[in-house]
Amino acid sequence: MSKQPQGMIFDLDGVLVDTAKYHYLAWRRLAAERFDLDFTPEDNEQFKGVNRVACMNILCKMAGVTLPAEEFDALATKKNNWYIEYVKQMTPDEVLPGAREFVQACRGAGLKTAIASASKNCALVLERTGIAPLFDEVVDGTSVTRAKPDPEVFVTAANRLGLPCDVCVVFEDAQAGLDGAAAGGMRSVAIGKPEDLTGYTLIAPSLAQVSVEQIKAM
Ligand code: BG6
Ligand code: MG
Repeated sequence: MSKQPQGMIFDLDGVLVDTAKYHYLAWRRLAAERFDLDFTPEDNEQFKGVNRVACMNILCKMAGVTLPAEEFDALATKKNNWYIEYVKQMTPDEVLPGAREFVQACRGAGLKTAIASASKNCALVLERTGIAPLFDEVVDGTSVTRAKPDPEVFVTAANRLGLPCDVCVVFEDAQAGLDGAAAGGMRSVAIGKPEDLTGYTLIAPSLAQVSVEQIKAM
């Protein structure tokens, strides 16, 4: 029988806050401007959860080019600067429906909470949306080196919470994140549509449709 969950580990972009659309818009702009590529929402699925350098590598592969390191870095920075412009305009209204309430309910039930994000912009997003006080720990792209689907970010979050992986549950909107959770020996709740995602323990369209009772019964 599975052990009772004790730690809730949340991805940030697309699970807690509505930033996935801004990553998409910035990559789409870069793909059009530099490669004359039409970057579709379907293409974007592969970019979700994956760190910036890994996303650049996928984009270069899609365009069929190998770039010199200098241009590679310059393009990644360009995309990031566009993304930051969007994030600077964010308000607490862009916390996704049900997210604040669900995390608060978890804490009220005695569960520990952490963020495990690939993003190096995590601190800025938390500052704009005001949700940092809801988490015991934050692990982001500035403190880990291996991109999801490597489990490093989730295992680090579990360690910081002082919990073994098998009592932690990961909440993820990206296939790379769900794969990372499984590789780290954690159960997962997929946030999204069954046609886009696989390999999860539970699935829901958003955190507004998940209850602490469901998690405890996992
Ligand atoms: C993840 C997003 O949370 O962070 C990815 O889902 C993004 O789309 C990754 O590429 C890295 O983010 P950043 O902000 O460091 O470029
Ligand atoms: Mg995400």
